[in-house]
Amino acid sequence: MSSRTLTAPLQQTMTPKDGVIIRTENLWKTYDMGAVQVHALCDVSFDIERGEYVAIMGPSGSGKSTLMNLIGCLDTPTQGKYWLNGRLVSELSDDELAYIRNKEIGFVFQTFNLLSRATALHNVELPLIYSGTPAAERLERAREALRKVELGDRMHHKPNELSGGQRQRVAIARALVNEPSIILADEPTGNLDSATGDEIMNLFDRLHQAGNTIVLVTHEHDIAARAHRIIHIRDGKVARDERVK
Ligand SMILES: Nc1ncnc2c1ncn2[C@@H]1O[C@H](COP(=O)(O)OP(=O)(O)O)[C@@H](O)[C@H]1O
Ligand SMILES: [Mg+2]
Repeated sequence: MSSRTLTAPLQQTMTPKDGVIIRTENLWKTYDMGAVQVHALCDVSFDIERGEYVAIMGPSGSGKSTLMNLIGCLDTPTQGKYWLNGRLVSELSDDELAYIRNKEIGFVFQTFNLLSRATALHNVELPLIYSGTPAAERLERAREALRKVELGDRMHHKPNELSGGQRQRVAIARALVNEPSIILADEPTGNLDSATGDEIMNLFDRLHQAGNTIVLVTHEHDIAARAHRIIHIRDGKVARDERVK
């Protein structure tokens, strides 16, 4: 008998090597709208390594937010595989998923998504409350995260007492406070004027230099050009994957 017949069939899928923090493999997301099916994502595959700064760029409706929601474990694909930090996400329990969303991923949204009645400090403390961090440590880490985004002097302000750029910096501090493996940002400058948007982008540059992995979704080329790699999405497909720095 030849050795060939003894070899197990080659597996299509393999656990990603160390250092690959995100692997999507033939991901599809289809919305069934009764008469029509909307393929928001079609056969999307890529790897992102630890420490990368990647922009996902494409026009409105191209599937960027759908992809971001899958990467952030906020939604599940119709088909395909997704590994986060070497673990196949479809095999995780609800508890494990909740843990990952809280500890491994820091989300930043276009609309900031802050609690309007809570101070900056309390907004940043929230993920630590959910993860059961003791109060004294929580306060210290929330203060530290706010200092990192240069809001040490605005800790007791509520969102409506802050500018748009400051609100987004609170949201970024909240995303950082659990020291996540990845920061996921969906159009983070979409509600800001261009000067304030620039400041936020400078902050992402600094976070990347400090070793954070950043995946940023945008439809603007100027914003995408701040990243080191641009994955272009068009009609739910990867149209181009380019290294820009
Ligand atoms: N919940 C949903 N139900 C049906 N269609 C959806 C849903 N979410 C998104 N879509 C469709 O999927 C496509 C991609 O949407 P989206 O990911 O939001 O694009 P982008 O963020 O790039 O603007 C669009 O055609 C949109 O209409
Ligand atoms: Mg979107």
